[in-house]
Amino acid sequence: MLVVDRLSVAYGSIKAVREVSLRVEKGEIVALLGPNGAGKTSLISAIVGLVPSAGGKVELDGTDISRKRTEDIVRLGATVTPEGRKIFGDLTVGQNLRLGAAVRRDRDGIAADIEQMLTMFPILRERFASRAQTLSGGEQQQLAIARSMMSRPKLLMLDEPSLGLAPRLVEQIFGLITELRAKGLTLLVVEQNAYDALALADRAYIMNSGRLQFSGRSEDLLASDDLMEHYLGTGTGGHAGAPG
Ligand SMILES: Nc1ncnc2c1ncn2[C@@H]1O[C@H](COP(=O)(O)OP(=O)(O)OP(=O)(O)O)[C@@H](O)[C@H]1O
Ligand SMILES: [Mg+2]
Repeated sequence: MLVVDRLSVAYGSIKAVREVSLRVEKGEIVALLGPNGAGKTSLISAIVGLVPSAGGKVELDGTDISRKRTEDIVRLGATVTPEGRKIFGDLTVGQNLRLGAAVRRDRDGIAADIEQMLTMFPILRERFASRAQTLSGGEQQQLAIARSMMSRPKLLMLDEPSLGLAPRLVEQIFGLITELRAKGLTLLVVEQNAYDALALADRAYIMNSGRLQFSGRSEDLLASDDLMEHYLGTGTGGHAGAPG
């Protein structure tokens, strides 16, 4: 589905991503982990053309998207739900959802998909005409994901979907991610919350200082205190048997 080959991102003299290569296969949930400033957001932003890459190549289903505009990449099926939700607070829930379909022209399909999202997220039906800024944090995160789904992505990249959410809502959002995969979606999930993300994901990549440090199966990481400690700065001590 997604093949990233030695992708680099630079902001002036700051090298945020250094020749990172990764793959996401159809139907997988892949976690992208690493500390603050590791380059996770820069990497997924470059994949969808929101920031320019300073070298490397990105393929989506065999199509080279490295030089394409974000709008065209979204149309081809790759969408990012940005960090910090980035919904339009002054607009209503309904208007936010319609904006997610801005790259589409099929009116009937858009209406049907809005209906589907309102069924999947009942709170959004209840608050359909409310301004988005009046939703709670968890509700805004649901809106952000629903809005991303309105572009009918094949590959959805979620940037820290659990950020700032209470544990119960984190569980709900992660449950939703599993549900989306069951519906055929492929997911790349950026998370600080390493344990929960690994419990959810099939595989994980760990970045640090712009470089890829580790890639492997989630269960292998979770099973090894040494790997967890070395790459994520945290063994399972005290977390053993932690839920989710
Ligand atoms: N627009 C920008 N201009 C200059 N430097 C930037 C910009 N965006 C990010 N950086 C720098 O690039 C590096 C990687 O940042 P990035 O946001 O990709 O990290 P991250 O892994 O997503 O971190 P976090 O977990 O805090 O979200 C950091 O050193 C950051 O300060
Ligand atoms: Mg980030």
